[in-house]
Amino acid sequence: MSVLAERLSAIKPSPTIAVSNLARELKAAGRDVIGLGAGEPDFDTPDHVKQAAIEAIHAGDTKYTAVDGTPVLKEAVVEKFKRENGLDYRPDEITVGAGGKQVIYNALMATVDPGDEVIIPAPYWVSYPDMTLLAGGKPVIVTCPEQTGFKLRAEDLEDAITDRTKWLILNSPNNPTGAALSRDELRAIADVLLRHPKVWVISDDIYEHLVYDGFEFNTIAAVEPSLKDRCLTMNGVAKAYAMTGWRIGYAGGPTALIKAIAKVQSQSTSNPCSISQAAAVAALNGPMDFMAERAATFKARRDKVAGYLNQAPGLRCHTPEGAFYVYPSCAGAIGKTTPDGQTIANSEDFCRYLLEGEGVACVHGTAFGMDPYFRISYATSTEALEDACARIIRACEKLG
Ligand SMILES: Cc1ncc(COP(=O)(O)O)c(C=O)c1O
Repeated sequence: MSVLAERLSAIKPSPTIAVSNLARELKAAGRDVIGLGAGEPDFDTPDHVKQAAIEAIHAGDTKYTAVDGTPVLKEAVVEKFKRENGLDYRPDEITVGAGGKQVIYNALMATVDPGDEVIIPAPYWVSYPDMTLLAGGKPVIVTCPEQTGFKLRAEDLEDAITDRTKWLILNSPNNPTGAALSRDELRAIADVLLRHPKVWVISDDIYEHLVYDGFEFNTIAAVEPSLKDRCLTMNGVAKAYAMTGWRIGYAGGPTALIKAIAKVQSQSTSNPCSISQAAAVAALNGPMDFMAERAATFKARRDKVAGYLNQAPGLRCHTPEGAFYVYPSCAGAIGKTTPDGQTIANSEDFCRYLLEGEGVACVHGTAFGMDPYFRISYATSTEALEDACARIIRACEKLG
């Protein structure tokens, strides 16, 4: 008998983390590899945030805290939701976890019964289906085609809802496509949800501050306030403040759900790191002017990468509204042959070819539920991106 639990057989390790690890290993072994797999800003955590953490250590802020966040951090989150999203939450409607990832995991663990369905628009963040499976639920994947900007259409949502639907997970701006939902698009989704009062929504807003060309970010609980009572509005400091390693995510939602999330956390990790919580307070309450500059850099990189990729034979790259990803189609490379005689059958083959042939690490689209595409993270230096794009173009030109 295997020591491993049966439920583990249904899930796989995160493919995005696997690609980043592989790129790191190849680099360490002396290979010239450009990693475009990582989902984290290449910028540094702001100095005032680091300073707050150092001060927290010196002040003895090194003990257990309340399980789901210190009162001062919850207050900072309350203010953030009010200031940036027009949402009024009380502190007992806020939860803080070790990253947005833990908040979503806890929420699904706390609410999903065997057979409950979770609607996940595809392309999706790799963790949603596996977390749903771990919780005993059934992921219901709804395809959002490139032709509609990789966005969830109201009619497709309506068709996917059944008596067993517990959650819809929205992620705008999206990982892996960068697609962001406008107020009108969220309005149409909200209208469907109003017709289905038993369906709850996780709104994963982690890329909120990474939107370009004047796009106005909106979150569904603010677009349709009557949905707030069945909405978990999730966010975090990882992407906005370049704090991926600090592990702080948070959410606002109805008290009963927030308490249930704390119950799961109390029996697993307890509180998130006390020092990181102090740093997150400084981030949320501190200046935000650096964000516009960083967003301008990301936008310039997005335009550059999309422009280059559209010159590569066999590739087609849609320009998205936000995040730091593009999700090009490699349909034109499928069926072609590499210089050493391998046939490219899918995006996995294509990404392997890019890595082995040109030393560029990207993540294949099968990981995100839509093929034949692949994800490029442009959260890396402009020079590295230019080099990577030149290599990708060269690789495409060599296909026969
Ligand atoms: C869509 C999405 N949601 C949530 C997360 C988790 O972020 P955190 O680092 O706060 O756990 C990520 C991280 O990559 C993400 O891409």
